Amino acid sequence: MDKQKILNALGDHPWRDNLQIYDTVDSTNTLARKLASEGAPSGTVVVADCQTAGRGRMGRSFVSIKGLGLYFSLILRPKLPPDKLLHLTPMVAVAACDAVEEAAGLRPQVKWINDLIINERKLAGILTESSMNFETGKLDYLIIGIGINCQHEPEDFPQGLNAISLKTALGHGVSREELTAALMRSLEKMQAALVGGKGIWMERYREDCLTVGRRVKVICRETETPAFAMGIDENGGLLVRYDDGREDVVSYGEVSVRGEQGYI
Ligand code: BTN
Repeated sequence: MDKQKILNALGDHPWRDNLQIYDTVDSTNTLARKLASEGAPSGTVVVADCQTAGRGRMGRSFVSIKGLGLYFSLILRPKLPPDKLLHLTPMVAVAACDAVEEAAGLRPQVKWINDLIINERKLAGILTESSMNFETGKLDYLIIGIGINCQHEPEDFPQGLNAISLKTALGHGVSREELTAALMRSLEKMQAALVGGKGIWMERYREDCLTVGRRVKVICRETETPAFAMGIDENGGLLVRYDDGREDVVSYGEVSVRGEQGYI
């Protein structure tokens, strides 16, 4: 990863002085948390060429091979109460789609809640984390972690992983530096909407989300319940109808959703 190339692609940007590039880290999210707890400013961006312990949602790992993916984390410190952050994850998914579209010329879809999908395979994952100050009851910082498969050949992924890279999807590689700059631009717009009002971002999320209208399995710990995905509510919750007719809103956190027949 060439920092100067990122800065050239970025131009004038409020976060350009807060960009930190690393060769190998355990996890950019873990490092960003450490930097945030030491006082790093809002808009600090951590990018690594390789992660030895990339983390995914619900304790899963994220395959982070050296030189092939973009491993990116952003520290934000919005002055918002926690209930104004419920739609953060869907907004980040839309911003990540915007960045891929800008840098690679094709728009992924989103599998609820925040996997980016191309050709029914996973292109990218998002892990948002937060730290609360329990004395004030206020948010201390957010960490937005995004991992995008860029230059992988199909055989680079472990067997059984339903993943795809931009290189395979496009037939040619993409510049990870341009993708980093595009992410910084789209996430800065997202942050403005997070603070100023989410506007059409949830409409955009509904357009990008491929889960609605499909049969799914709602997975909560050991239990898998078949359902029909009906829609997305204003906070990004998935509206489902179970086969016994019960309707529910599934919020993320401990729940994940798979297609009835497979990953999608
Ligand atoms: C998921 O698919 O469940 C989320 C994957 C998130 C991976 C990114 S890579 C950059 C950042 N650092 C991490 O350890 N995880 C996120």
